[in-house]
Amino acid sequence: MFYEPQNGHGLPHDPFNAIVAPRPIGWISTRSKAGALNLAPYSYFNVISHSPHLVIFSSSGRKDSVTFIEETGEFAVNLVSGNLREQMNASAVNAPRGVSEFDYAGLTPAPCKLIEAPRVAEAYAALECVATDIRVPMDRHGNPSGNFLVTGEVVGIHIDEAILTDGLIDIKKAQPVSRLGYMDYATISEVYQMWRPQWETSEIKPR
Ligand SMILES: Cc1cc2nc3c(=O)[nH]c(=O)nc-3n(C[C@H](O)[C@H](O)[C@H](O)COP(=O)(O)O)c2cc1C
Repeated sequence: MFYEPQNGHGLPHDPFNAIVAPRPIGWISTRSKAGALNLAPYSYFNVISHSPHLVIFSSSGRKDSVTFIEETGEFAVNLVSGNLREQMNASAVNAPRGVSEFDYAGLTPAPCKLIEAPRVAEAYAALECVATDIRVPMDRHGNPSGNFLVTGEVVGIHIDEAILTDGLIDIKKAQPVSRLGYMDYATISEVYQMWRPQWETSEIKPR
């Protein structure tokens, strides 16, 4: 099948998020200027560069996370393991501004080292970020989309050493939760390696 999103898909549910899946979940923790704590999951999230370490997430409207980052220029990205999935989901509650989703979800705010925003003590890893850019992406007609794209540079990284095996992140220990389409989620059950081809040594060169 082929469809143009503007004309509808004709399926029981919109497949878009299920096509671009799995997506990692950035569990964004922030602190307002007045000191209120906030926590919410964002699956429009990813790493966009290694040097420097840049991450992005997109908010469908100016949600509390964006507002607090606008106020302070800081946020932390926590990673969600399978055993925290219920708490992650609870933290998506549309709580009134100023109500801490840490309390609502039964999670412990731990201090960060370089930023004032808290991190999730129970998470296996957390990235301390300084916001570098907050912008509203345009649609193809040049109209503001109404989404807020936040970019941040990672300035500090916490890792629970329990997820390391021989100094490497052991993804089977970390068990990150990923977002699929619809109401679906997944954890990793199989890991394999592949090495990138090198032209000089490749045996499958076109003639
Ligand atoms: C797994 C998951 C992923 C989500 N991803 C996003 C997202 O990428 N962008 C977004 O705007 N909302 C997303 N949401 C909804 C927000 O978490 C929700 O609106 C939350 O209340 C926003 O909190 P805040 O206003 O405290 O920032 C997601 C919810 C869940 C459960």
